[in-house]
Amino acid sequence: MYLGIDLGTSAVKTVLVDDAQRVIASESRPLATVSPQPGYYEQDPAQWIDAAFATLDALKASHGKELAAVEGIGLSGQMHGATLLDASSKPLRPCILWNDGRSDAECRILEQRWPALRATTGNKAMPGFTAPKLLWVATHEPDIFAATKLVLLPKAYLRLVLSGEAVEDVSDASGSLWLDVARRDWSDAALAATGLSRDHMPRLVEGCAPAARLRGELAQRWGMAKPPIIAGGAGDNPAGAVGIGAIRPGTAFVSLGTSGALLAPTDRIAANPDRVVHTFCHAIPGMWIQAGAILSAASCLAWAARLFGATEAELLAPLGSRPQAPSPVSFLPYLAGERTPHDDPAVRGMLDGLSHGTDRAAIVQSVLEGVAFALADCRDVLADAGMAIAEADVIGGGSRSPFWLSVLASVLNVPVHRFAGGETGAAFGAARLGRLAVTGEAIPAICTRPQRVETFEPDAKLVDAYAERLPAWRELYRPRH
Ligand code: XUL
Repeated sequence: MYLGIDLGTSAVKTVLVDDAQRVIASESRPLATVSPQPGYYEQDPAQWIDAAFATLDALKASHGKELAAVEGIGLSGQMHGATLLDASSKPLRPCILWNDGRSDAECRILEQRWPALRATTGNKAMPGFTAPKLLWVATHEPDIFAATKLVLLPKAYLRLVLSGEAVEDVSDASGSLWLDVARRDWSDAALAATGLSRDHMPRLVEGCAPAARLRGELAQRWGMAKPPIIAGGAGDNPAGAVGIGAIRPGTAFVSLGTSGALLAPTDRIAANPDRVVHTFCHAIPGMWIQAGAILSAASCLAWAARLFGATEAELLAPLGSRPQAPSPVSFLPYLAGERTPHDDPAVRGMLDGLSHGTDRAAIVQSVLEGVAFALADCRDVLADAGMAIAEADVIGGGSRSPFWLSVLASVLNVPVHRFAGGETGAAFGAARLGRLAVTGEAIPAICTRPQRVETFEPDAKLVDAYAERLPAWRELYRPRH
């Protein structure tokens, strides 16, 4: 029996997976994000721990026998967040999250200080990444910077509480800008450029390797006879890849979660930082992931639901199962700024083409289309780095909408597929990593492809209509430089 715990942005999701890889139970607890200033996003790490423990306590109550048999735990998590700990491993301030735009100026300082940054980390310095956040803290909160003894990504903090050990996996560490992604090790030069050293960093392991063991008292609390092994785990996107068996080149997929991404697993680094392609080590040794990442995807639909005072299901129902024509309205999904392809934390969203006749359905459709157009931008920068996409699986909460997947297929002009239960992807992938860390089984034998339940083919009429609309949609963006 294995556990996967995904420390997401909107919730902690925990799944219990049996030896036949069936999810036999899952629990989820919501998380709140605080925005102390426009463009700033933070979470209290104590909240992650309470939520994760609540999911496990609930599983003990509902599936005590199965929980007691857990041998391996995998962690997945929202990437990039800066959790700063003092000498007694207490958080010094709220975690600064992956979508926080405050450290834009620090990105330019970092690239000037260390010109090899893009070549070594495979990424452009962007405010979402961890290193510029530390430079921001050094300037604006020098006392906190001086007191910082350890910098952890969100799921590494959860692991520290669960096990007492500071360990991170190389896929999540790739989002820090402190990792030499080719060597899969910390870069001393990167750390020095931020005024830090290896002493401030957790130990590194591969995602499927053992990292630590659950503390004895916690194993007792959840009724486990022997403390389970905790695997390295993965950032949420690489964990999602493991969950759907995207472990080889040619297995590109789209994530429609709070954030969005188009991700292509590769067996070599094909970086394109100048066009804001992200380079991450995969959770599988010897593999990497190239990705276009957008900051707002399913969160745009959540925003529309708040705006209209309706549920997301109520917004989607009138649209039917597929579009007849593009919405007359255009939407830029840059509600929290954007990474790929603009790297512009200051840009904001836009609705264009409103008229007296515009109804709620036209706006909701434009929101879904705007996210799909942003993913088309990701497709183009990946193609520019040599990774043309022939088809794509879709994971994340957004994959539940057939309308959205029909739009996506026609905008990207490739067939898109979905799985049953795609919304538990990252936690399920983490559970697989937990199993691999215990058993050392062959990776392809465990990271199999789940059955696709539905394929959405591009519709020739819509492909043309969207291809015609895309340049005008792109024109709506006004570059900041
Ligand atoms: C990836 C990214 C997001 C976060 C939160 O670069 O910033 O996907 O991991 O989900």
